[in-house]
Amino acid sequence: MSNRMWGGRFATGPDAIMEEINASIGFDQKLWRQDIAGSKAHSAMLAETGIITGADRDAIHAGLDEIAAEIEAGTFVFERGLEDIHMNIEAKLAEKIGAAAGRLHTARSRNDQVALDVKLWVRDTLDHLDSQFHDLMSVTVAKAAEHAGVVMPGFTHLQSAQPVTFGHHLLAHVEMWARDRARFKDARARLNECPLGAAALAGTSFPIDRAMTAQALGFDRPTANSMDSVADRDYALEALAAASIAAMHLSRLAEEIVIWTSAQFRFVKLSDKFTTGSSIMPQKRNPDAAELVRAKTGRIAGSFNALLMVMKGLPLTYQKDMQEDKEQIFDGLESLSLALAATTGMMRDLEPEAVILRRAAGSGFSTATDLADWLVRELGIPFREAHHVTGRIVAIAADRDTTLDKVTLAEMQSVHAGITEEVYSVLSVSRSVGSRVSYGGTAPKNVRSQAKRWQARLAKEKPIAERD
Ligand code: ARG
Repeated sequence: MSNRMWGGRFATGPDAIMEEINASIGFDQKLWRQDIAGSKAHSAMLAETGIITGADRDAIHAGLDEIAAEIEAGTFVFERGLEDIHMNIEAKLAEKIGAAAGRLHTARSRNDQVALDVKLWVRDTLDHLDSQFHDLMSVTVAKAAEHAGVVMPGFTHLQSAQPVTFGHHLLAHVEMWARDRARFKDARARLNECPLGAAALAGTSFPIDRAMTAQALGFDRPTANSMDSVADRDYALEALAAASIAAMHLSRLAEEIVIWTSAQFRFVKLSDKFTTGSSIMPQKRNPDAAELVRAKTGRIAGSFNALLMVMKGLPLTYQKDMQEDKEQIFDGLESLSLALAATTGMMRDLEPEAVILRRAAGSGFSTATDLADWLVRELGIPFREAHHVTGRIVAIAADRDTTLDKVTLAEMQSVHAGITEEVYSVLSVSRSVGSRVSYGGTAPKNVRSQAKRWQARLAKEKPIAERD
């Protein structure tokens, strides 16, 4: 039996199938601004070098401006029969200005045109992501400074390990975002060479000025090899690779937010701006935004992998396979942008539950290391032995179902006779975190100076989009 749903779709025959598999206008219309900017720079250069007349250039620019206005207004009709954004715009230009439109494509091919458009789109998006990272880092640094002294449990193996400060924990994430931002910055610097003028693959016999178009479009220089220019998608892969790592970072914080907001932990409060209620269980507040940020990682790393597999094994130069780059690039980078916006919103919103965090910080014998360090420092016991003595004191506390600071001096002395009253001074969580003053340590005073360092650095490293 034939499948009606699918049978119907392809009933019109091979022409329709070809059009469907061949067309990219359904997704590459997103490149219209870049396409028009590239065409304007190209035609300006063609006129400057005497390849077309000034009158043709003016007609081309006026026509392109009209087209931009129509697309902006939503009145432009994209046609699938015209395949892609390049041909849709060129056909419309011909309708508007006639023969001059045909001169726009002199010394250019869709191969260098599409390479340029995609590069420009990726570059614009990297600049936007850069300002989003700047926002997220600023919000988080402010929150860290505000809660520099709030103690909480630090975890290894998701077991209470040692007390840390909430501010210190937040600044750990800021460090990761700074590396993400640097990776995108590096990728942008490598991306910034202009492929326009490579033409189909071999360059052109027209006396074009590639430095002129490169400069007009904000590139550092033209690409040096015409074949590489049309075959290269490294800039997109690098952006998606950096995005995958960044998404992985966001997913770790998202997972912490999921854990922290659970009824079992209640470490932080997140308002209903970023949570939803359950339709059936009135007590629930689900951390949907955090869960979705966590999930985007799969999607973003998926885009990177998909494009890497599209590119693998392609002989030089342009192959139609490369048309499949766009949906991965758009989806991967736009998903990261949304995840960043949601994470920034949550960071602005969330507040630590200081009382609960302090109680949790003291549970799980989290100051056991402080006790062992005290034995080493005050009694001169080798660390390995101190570890053993501490273990026995922890066992006493565990037996009595209490915390380390509630173990009596007599009980401690039954394990090691040299222990004095003084030991209690290191068993509180505040003392513990306050003592971690080594560079990079969790002491509130360290957190305050690190937050200041970040504020100064963020003031200096403004988003690319805001620089002059
Ligand atoms: N739509 C095409 C793409 O996205 C544009 C380049 C087409 N070039 C060609 N020689 N058919 O890759």
